[in-house]
Parts: sequence; structure tokens; C-alpha cells
Amino acid sequence: MPHTITAAEVAAKNPLGLVLSGGPSSVYAEGAPSLDPEVFNLGVPVLGICYGFQIMARTLGGTVSHTGEREYGATDATISHANVLVDELPTAQNVWMSHGDSVSEAPAGFTVLASTASTPVAAFAHDEKRLYGVQWHPEVKHSDYGQKLLENFLHRAAGIPNDWNPDNVIADQVASIQAQVGSGKVICGLSGGVDSAVAAALVHKAVGDQLVCVFVDHGLLRQDERRQVEEDYVTATGVRLVTVDAREQFLTALAGVTDPETKRKIIGREFIRTFEKAQADLIAEAKAEDGDPIKFLVQGTLYPDVVESGGGSGTANIKSHHNVGGLPEDLNFELVEPLRTLFKDEVRAIGRELGLPEVIVGRQPFPGPGLGIRIVGEVTAERLELLRAADAIAREELTAAGLDNEIWQCPVVLLADVRSVGVQGDGRTYGHPIVLRPVSSEDAMTADWTRLPYDVLARISNRITNQVPGVNRVVLDVTSKPPGTIEWE
Ligand code: XMP
Repeated sequence: MPHTITAAEVAAKNPLGLVLSGGPSSVYAEGAPSLDPEVFNLGVPVLGICYGFQIMARTLGGTVSHTGEREYGATDATISHANVLVDELPTAQNVWMSHGDSVSEAPAGFTVLASTASTPVAAFAHDEKRLYGVQWHPEVKHSDYGQKLLENFLHRAAGIPNDWNPDNVIADQVASIQAQVGSGKVICGLSGGVDSAVAAALVHKAVGDQLVCVFVDHGLLRQDERRQVEEDYVTATGVRLVTVDAREQFLTALAGVTDPETKRKIIGREFIRTFEKAQADLIAEAKAEDGDPIKFLVQGTLYPDVVESGGGSGTANIKSHHNVGGLPEDLNFELVEPLRTLFKDEVRAIGRELGLPEVIVGRQPFPGPGLGIRIVGEVTAERLELLRAADAIAREELTAAGLDNEIWQCPVVLLADVRSVGVQGDGRTYGHPIVLRPVSSEDAMTADWTRLPYDVLARISNRITNQVPGVNRVVLDVTSKPPGTIEWE
């Protein structure tokens, strides 16, 4: 929720606990996000993190000072006082800091729990009111015991049961899909990727043959993908699948377009239009049965898609994921999005629990807009052929080297508007570069570039430059996310 929410609105949501997140502002800056002070009087347990910790301190009468000393990165913290929040944490630990201001005095009634060399109040607690705060970022992987601290807050301080497991999520989702859909008919766009595959399998479990899956071949697919969906997935699940060949339609809509956001919006729009057409065809076909319209559309939207498309005020729109910000306003379907609050690793766990084969559940992520956002420049049939060939080589070599589980994904990108001089055979070439973008990540919110073995890179580079006409250079993207995103567009 945005920080502008009132205490009454918070109370109306009946929360089990609140986390006040970090943020880039100083509490002293003009227009810095503030909070309705009554939020702290609701009796709801609160954990403030970084900026959330400082705003809590300031609101409740503590002191936040400009010390002039910035703490950034790995920092040694010392736990000085036992408390449920820091239970089972060792006295000394390495935590991730990123702040300019510091809490110099805790509010009355609070106990100081930890300090660092330059931050005397690095964590505090008021057990009676169940208010807690930490200056460091327990949510990042680089904070030792960060996960443990969050668990302490959620399960022990706030008393929220530790009951997330795939079984429960499946049971909950099946019940809520059945409640939403009733006896209605449902259509699902299948991309061949993990998200839509798991979303469709969940809906199939909930409503069986009320679901028809539509697979759009938009021409932006990787090599052999259509066959994999039509054969592997259908064999594993038994869902009814209709394939729509929309290759011409997408290419025509994308002709002359180079702007990434425009491409994404066009692809999102054409996806929906294709579903609407599939709906009309399916109704016509079912006319003899009951003539019911297909009212629902399943999407494999994940939580990171929602966040990155600008999920609330005060958040940034990084890029419009085709299934969130890219939807047309005159959408003719009601959406069913059973994965909307989940991260990829959770979706995989659910897919395995549902019995989907590893070849589908373990598949690397591939964006809905497909190769369309991996061609920097205009998308044409010829360029797609070229990129498909390069991508197939890269994937083949990564699999052969046993690296599929090491990397999160490896986009292969064609810089269609860039050319460089090369020499191949006896002649001069003036070809395009291909970018390899291998990344490691847990949830795609952040990522690091993967240090692939040189011999694997060499094999990929040799094969691409030798076997893909028009490409005379292969380059490696060595940027983490942030500052880069995973895809180039
Ligand atoms: P970025 O480029 O935002 O990508 O760092 C994060 C993850 O999301 C995938 N991605 C998409 N997936 N529709 C999708 O289904 C999209 O529009 C889209 N854009 C990016 C990307 O491949 C990466 O795994």
C-alpha cells in the first residue's frame, strides 16, 4: 500500500502485521513520505525497515540525525539485547546497510537491540506494543540471518502461522478459481513458459474441461517451441489446446516500430485481440452445445510483473509487462490470475506439486513478447530467423555444458541497428552483433550476470558467427540488475 493510506483504511483491511519498507528519501527532505501516526496505535504488529525504521522513530518521538556519515554495503552489526525479533541470531553479524540519516535516540519505551560502529541505534523494539525496527535490510540476501529476522517478526512477534506450502496455495487457489468462475467457460493463453503452464494447470484442476487453452504462434517464438507446447504440455496435462497462427498479424502490427514500450503495447494488444478472435471461433464452434460465451481469461501474471508495471503510487514504472500495463482498456474478459501474488520459485514449487514434468517446470523464463523485445530495432521476419538460429545455438551449448540450472535465463539479443566490420573467409563483412545476456537470479527482481566458462562462451561465439549469416560478432553483457534490466527492451 502507498504511505498515504490512513490508519482507518489499514484497520479496514484487518492486517496481521505491517512492514514499513525502505525508501530513498531522508525523513527531513521536503515531501518525504510520511505516515498516519495512528497506524502505530492500531495494535497491529509493525516492522520498520531502513526508512520505515526512521519514520517510525521520528513519528513516535525518537531522534533521527544527519550524522553526515553514510553507511553503505556490508556492515558489522552487534546484537546488544535479547528480543523475539533477534532470537537465535548470533551477537556479531554482517548486514546490508544503505542510509544517510541515523536514529540517534530511540522513542520512549523502546529497547535498543543492536548497533554498528557508526549507528548506535541499529534496531529497536517495544514488545508490549509489538513495534519493531531495523536500520539494515533483512530482505536482501547479503544480510546474514535477514530471513531469520523476518521469520521472527512474522511468526513469533506477529504470531502469523508458518503455513506457506504448495499444497495450501493450490487448495486456496482452486477454491477461489471455482468461486470466481462458477460454471463459466475459461480461456487461457499458453506461451510454453512456466507461468502460463502452471496457471493453466491450476485452473484445469479447478474447473476441468470448462478450460480451453489457446496457444498463439505470434512468430516471436524460439525454435521448436510450438511443437513443445503442442506435444509435451498437452501430453502432460490433458488440457484442450487450440493453436492460432498469428504470425502475419503480429509482423504487420510491428512493422516500422522500434520503440520498446510501443512494441510491448502492440504485442499486448494483439495478444488480446487474438484471444478475442479465438473466443468468437470457439463460441461459434460450441453453438450446438449451449452457446455460453467465454467470459474468463487466465493469465500467468506474477508478482514481479505487477510491481515493475508500477503497482501503486510512489512506485516506479520500469517497463510495461505485456500482461499488466500493456492491456487494452476495452478488455472483453474478466481476468483469472492465480499466480498474481507469487514469485517464480514459488510457481515452480506449485507446478511440481501439480505433477507437471520437469521439462516444463524447470524451463527458463521467456518473456511473453518473445523475440520481439530481443531485437533492438524493427522486428522483421528475416531478423527473427537470424535471432532464432543464434538463440538455438546458445541454448544448445548451455544445455550441453550442463549449465541450465546455474543460470536463471540467457536472453540472446540482436542489435539490428548496429553494424560492425568483420572479416570472414577472405572478405570484408558488415554484420550485426549478437549479445549474450546470461543472468543468475532468484526472482528476476534483481540479477547478476553469470560468469560462464570461457570455453562455453567460445563455442557459442564460434558457432553463431560461423552458422548464422549476417552475424559477425558476439558480445557478452556484464551488467547486473540494477542498473540493467534482464531483457534489453
Ligand atoms: P526484466 O527485463 O524486467 O525482466 O529485468 C524480468 C523477467 O521478466 C521477464 N519479462 C517478461 N515476462 N512478459 C513476460 O511474461 C513481459 O512483458 C516481460 N518482460 C520481461 C524477463 O524475461 C525476466 O525473466
